[in-house]
Amino acid sequence: MLDPLRAICDDSLERKWIWLSLALAFLMGGLLGFYAIANNIHPPSNVQTIDSTRLHLSEEFAEDNLGVKSNDDGSLTVTLVAARYGFYPQRVEVPTDTRVTFRIASADVLHGIHVPGTNMTTMVVPGYISEVTTKFPRAGEFSLLCNEYCGLGHDAMWSRLVVTEKSAGGESS
Ligand code: CUA
Repeated sequence: MLDPLRAICDDSLERKWIWLSLALAFLMGGLLGFYAIANNIHPPSNVQTIDSTRLHLSEEFAEDNLGVKSNDDGSLTVTLVAARYGFYPQRVEVPTDTRVTFRIASADVLHGIHVPGTNMTTMVVPGYISEVTTKFPRAGEFSLLCNEYCGLGHDAMWSRLVVTEKSAGGESS
């Protein structure tokens, strides 16, 4: 059998171990890829920059413009500011089975946002607008948690996400 590793390695036992470690590396890479696709995990794809020190002066992230807005196509956009130690506004309400796009900016340091039990998660890097689009199939109250260590109050950094049944939400059905 022609072994391509023969060119760099004479010892057959050593070649077996090299093949084994290569196989393991590909297996683990394949598993990561498989679960990323199977669980619908998407990496950040939206590269848009913002001056984190001047969020209050920006149009989109000014305090009065935060929260849930409905779009013409029936989807929703949720604009959030992550700042030590909370996500603002502190309570967000969206209906089930509706496309929701979160747009989040950090006012200070690196944060993460995560809704346990859903695929809603992203890092919130200062200087960038993080964008995640998802749908929530189940109604209920969820926590919006910070999952990047951001300071002494990190443990207490969370807000409330309320998902209501679509028909009860008063949105168009
Ligand atoms: Cu914000 Cu941890």
